[in-house]
Amino acid sequence: MEADIVVDLQYGDTGKGKVAHFLCKSKKYTHVLRYNGGCNAGHTVFHNGKKFVTHHIPVGVFWGVRSVIGPGCVLDPVQFMRELKELADGGVNVDGMVFIAKNTHVITEKHKAEDGNEEKLGTTRRGNGPAYRDKYARVGVRAESIPELKPYLIDLYDEFHGKKDVRILGEGAQGFGLDIDWGDYPYVTSSHCTVAGFLLNGIPPQAVREVWGVAKVYETYVGAKKFEPAEPIFEKIRTLGEEFGATTGRPRQVNWMEMHLLEEAIRVNGVTHIAFNKADILRAIGQWAILDGGVKKSFADEKSMQAFLVERLAKLGVAKDHIYFSEHKDRV
Ligand code: IMP
Ligand code: MG
Repeated sequence: MEADIVVDLQYGDTGKGKVAHFLCKSKKYTHVLRYNGGCNAGHTVFHNGKKFVTHHIPVGVFWGVRSVIGPGCVLDPVQFMRELKELADGGVNVDGMVFIAKNTHVITEKHKAEDGNEEKLGTTRRGNGPAYRDKYARVGVRAESIPELKPYLIDLYDEFHGKKDVRILGEGAQGFGLDIDWGDYPYVTSSHCTVAGFLLNGIPPQAVREVWGVAKVYETYVGAKKFEPAEPIFEKIRTLGEEFGATTGRPRQVNWMEMHLLEEAIRVNGVTHIAFNKADILRAIGQWAILDGGVKKSFADEKSMQAFLVERLAKLGVAKDHIYFSEHKDRV
């Protein structure tokens, strides 16, 4: 078994969907595995020039690769069926391509109703937190007990360990700053957003090859805590960068990229490759800066900021030629 992982180094919405879609096209995988989160996620993908937003279903489906929702996730059957239909209506062949591990927990109507009133954390109100709570309280419902999910159910042990040639791409959701343990608690999600969360889905650690960390050249966060400094530049970045939630449409708060968060995320995840997205947005704005432990450092131009990042990350052991800057929403 071999596995590569796509993992978010910030607060979600860094462009994991795009990177996973790209890797899936250029490499030969037998499976794409969503390993954490629920339909709180929104992954924007351009396929053959057409825009899709996925919530549950992994990007393998666009390339005819078996797409598996693992037991590290929680699944809303209603949203799942809706998404299958949306993809099919958009011309994507979903038949016999999408699977759910039978031990995956389900987001129920009750969970959604409860989360629907949430205000303190600013959740996506998709029932994510209550579903994980019930899973760990051992009063949850597994996918195997939902009749309409029967056609999609698989045993993940048989799927991954009973076959000869298994090459998996892990598609993470949310991000390091939202991780239940590593994020800014309680302003976090209820799942494991690091590579450890990938391993929880029945993957032996020796299988892991490449860990693709995804970040933006600036940060965004959606939720109740105050995140954005009161400076007009961030409004500009939000507008130009189209920083509005793919799931809820909420405006994302914007700030410069914090190096300390990035470095923690790189080390904890054992990142081997990095894709920085949205270089084109800072270029259009004409300002380049980062935060280093809260202290702002500005750069004269794009080249000097990129050189700084490459030097800094090389110190953490990330090879210089494994660091990419992307300037297109549908290309890496
Ligand atoms: P929950 O995951 O819906 O419980 O929300 C908890 C926090 O995580 C809130 O601040 C959400 O806005 C944030 N969040 C959850 N999923 C995503 C995502 O896919 N992208 C960005 N933020 C997310
Ligand atoms: Mg998103």
